[in-house]
Amino acid sequence: MPNNGAVSTGWHKFGTLLSHAARPERVEGGNFVNPPITRGSTVVFPSVESMSHKEKERYAHTTIYGAMGSPVQHELEKVIAEIEGGCDCQVVSSGLSACTLPLIAFLKAGDHCLIADSVYGPTRRFAEKVLKRFGVEISFFPPLASKTELESFFRPNTRCVFAESPGSHTFEVQDIPMIATLTHKHGAKLLMDNSWGFGIFAPFDHGVDVAIQALTKYPAGHSDVVAGAITVNNQQDWHQLRDTALQIGQVTGPEDCWLTLRGLRTMGVRLARQAQTAFEIATWLKEQPEIAAVHHPALPECPGHVFWKRDFTGAGCLFGVLLHERYTVQEMKQFINALSLFAIGASWGGYDSLVLPTTGEIIRNYPDENVIKHATFRLQIGLEETQDLKNDLRQALDRLSL
Ligand SMILES: Cc1ncc(COP(=O)(O)O)c(C=O)c1O
Repeated sequence: MPNNGAVSTGWHKFGTLLSHAARPERVEGGNFVNPPITRGSTVVFPSVESMSHKEKERYAHTTIYGAMGSPVQHELEKVIAEIEGGCDCQVVSSGLSACTLPLIAFLKAGDHCLIADSVYGPTRRFAEKVLKRFGVEISFFPPLASKTELESFFRPNTRCVFAESPGSHTFEVQDIPMIATLTHKHGAKLLMDNSWGFGIFAPFDHGVDVAIQALTKYPAGHSDVVAGAITVNNQQDWHQLRDTALQIGQVTGPEDCWLTLRGLRTMGVRLARQAQTAFEIATWLKEQPEIAAVHHPALPECPGHVFWKRDFTGAGCLFGVLLHERYTVQEMKQFINALSLFAIGASWGGYDSLVLPTTGEIIRNYPDENVIKHATFRLQIGLEETQDLKNDLRQALDRLSL
């Protein structure tokens, strides 16, 4: 049984890195603490030779044109690569682009891609609407498939497996080392959306090849930026990813990179506090008579909890809630409308608490019968006081008849 410390300790180890990474060099005469925002499209050179020399360095985070990124984007890339434990990183314009770019980079017509049934809905849509149109075969596998079951999904042309742990809305924690072993046995690459586990799940230590981040969430942390990142752990994958990013014109605005870097400075303390509050609320909520179950990875009732306990060093601030079967979706909407501290909104990872109804949003080939018979919602826990959030939830639950 995880203790309260276990949900928040994982975030603390980054304090020094987050405070000192990507700070400008100390120079005689002094300079500002934070890197500047460099806006621009054109970069000018003193000679043709110096321009072509720089062009050859495109795998070294340099730029000869604004569409190749700005200095602050490249600083952010170095910090993200270090936190994920990879060799290099490409920042992109949204978390969704971070999911789609590696699929474009590592797949071609005739390949097969296996995707966890519980991935973020737009990732699923991209696979079904775009990848299929370009001749890639797609199939979905149950996120908690056993090794034997999962192996039956592989085809001779399987080239990528896409995992997300915990799953969107349903929070199944996947057995990533087992999935990695099978993926590599079949000569494929394992891509993982690690947005929930940023800083508390070391993707490359668990066999992941491509780690995906929605920087929009914890790193930016203030609900004011949309950005993403992809980290890889070898030079060959890095070249393929970086080339694809340049070929399709992926670029992220310097303000968004700067804001994300600024958000990262406090991510450790924000998330330690938010994870702690989220765990306390989840534990309290599951005891309320109106609630059937709480799918928080650090709670034993969460599907795949054993893998969370084995593989993660902490917990995030986002979890799913199942209302008791006796309540309709309409009653759940009344409960949600009665909340005052929880704003109704998509996204998560910011400093403010949010609620999102998820019934109808859970599109699955392999639906979990325990989930679909309930009205469900998702909570993102922010920096508010725990007791205030509990009071808000309790007064809204009181509107439901017992
Ligand atoms: C798990 C996960 N991955 C990716 C994304 C996409 O991020 P963005 O909103 O920055 O496109 C989201 C957004 O909610 C998400 O929850």
